[in-house]
Amino acid sequence: MKIKRIRGVNDILPGEIEKWQWVEQIAHKTFARYGFKEIRTPIFESTRLFSRSIGETTDIVEKEMYTFQDKSGDSITLRPEGTASVVRSFVEHKMYGPGQLSKLYYLGPMFRYERPQAGRFRQFYQIGVEAMGSGHPALDAEVISMLMEFYRELGLKGLKLNLNTLGSNESRTHYREILKEAIQPNLSKLCDNCQGRYERNPLRVLDCKVASCGDVAETLPKIREHLIDADRLHFEQVQGHLKSVNLDFVINDRLVRGLDYYGRTTFEVTAEGLGSQNAVCGGGRYDGLVEEFDGPSTPCFGFAMGLERLVTILPEEMTQGIQSRPDVFVVMLGEVAQRAGFPLLEAMRREGLSVMRDFEGGSMKSQMRKANKSNCRFAVILGENEIENKSYQLKNMETGEQSNHSPDSLVAEIKSR
Ligand code: HAM
Repeated sequence: MKIKRIRGVNDILPGEIEKWQWVEQIAHKTFARYGFKEIRTPIFESTRLFSRSIGETTDIVEKEMYTFQDKSGDSITLRPEGTASVVRSFVEHKMYGPGQLSKLYYLGPMFRYERPQAGRFRQFYQIGVEAMGSGHPALDAEVISMLMEFYRELGLKGLKLNLNTLGSNESRTHYREILKEAIQPNLSKLCDNCQGRYERNPLRVLDCKVASCGDVAETLPKIREHLIDADRLHFEQVQGHLKSVNLDFVINDRLVRGLDYYGRTTFEVTAEGLGSQNAVCGGGRYDGLVEEFDGPSTPCFGFAMGLERLVTILPEEMTQGIQSRPDVFVVMLGEVAQRAGFPLLEAMRREGLSVMRDFEGGSMKSQMRKANKSNCRFAVILGENEIENKSYQLKNMETGEQSNHSPDSLVAEIKSR
């Protein structure tokens, strides 16, 4: 019986996984420099956690969640994103206190029942960051700056940082009315989706990808022009901080984001060469979400990036050397050599070397072919003579140079080279 993988999911194979591991290592290191600590939350949660936080009228909650009943009849959902779980965990474990800032990051698979296409999958990986406990505009800038530092470490160029503000609830309530009034005469030009969203979530018209909606959106009033003073000041200060560290950005008035928990700063990073799914990171401020889940008032800022998209745009010169290769391949000829070889292999591994062998007991030629294929740096050749004379042959696979060494000095010799 042949079974294939489900549509929209991926196997990440050796050869490719090294890039992922490298990206993850750089994330661990970069985020640590900013005081972030890793958190791991479950892959599934109560459905209402997501519907409540992401928003009942969002595409994710309306159409894309993997929701099922478990055997006790509870409604469970595979996480479509990480922020809701981190907020739940933050409240559940009381990670708050006066003046306390929790800086958390996570890494793992997310699940959305979207239409699969290049760069869009049903299971995809995110690295996400949540800074919880400060409403200071410098926090927004610090987290964005950390992201750009991470991209710099990866050698990524040509990224575009799109910045916007959605204002606080107060600004938005007022702006929503202005927006609806401006959309009203154009309602018939909007796609069915936007016509449906007009009453409940008119801001989504701004970032609808349908061309006719885009034409209408271009003519609509901008939220930037309808902010209360505190929101305008916050946005100006975020921009000031970003400029003070020479970070380029463009203000994108139509950047709304597809999750409802945002207020004030939002942003997305887009990359060239990815086609229509060109967002490599998205995030922003969500000051009301912790309270929504019965925690104390806790302003937060975070982002998440999709790893599949990120890995495709890594510059080749950065990933060339990251394929792992064995240090040594031990060629063993005959029974006696096989027996003597086993402790030698284990001794080398205990010394930290990466060592391979063959289990077929083939000829010298066939074992050397495997050594070559393994891309090892050195081959050690053991035959009955070598064992008897306690003189092992060492071959440098790059130069072809050969030398003989006693069993005791062999490991030190390889390590010194
Ligand atoms: P999001 O914009 O929904 O935000 O997703 C963040 C990133 O995940 C996207 O920019 C994209 O790179 C990747 N992504 C999303 N969906 C897919 C998919 N179907 N296939 C491949 N990659 C995908 C969030 O998830 C928020 N939780 C971000 C956040 C954290 N905001 C505050 N804190």
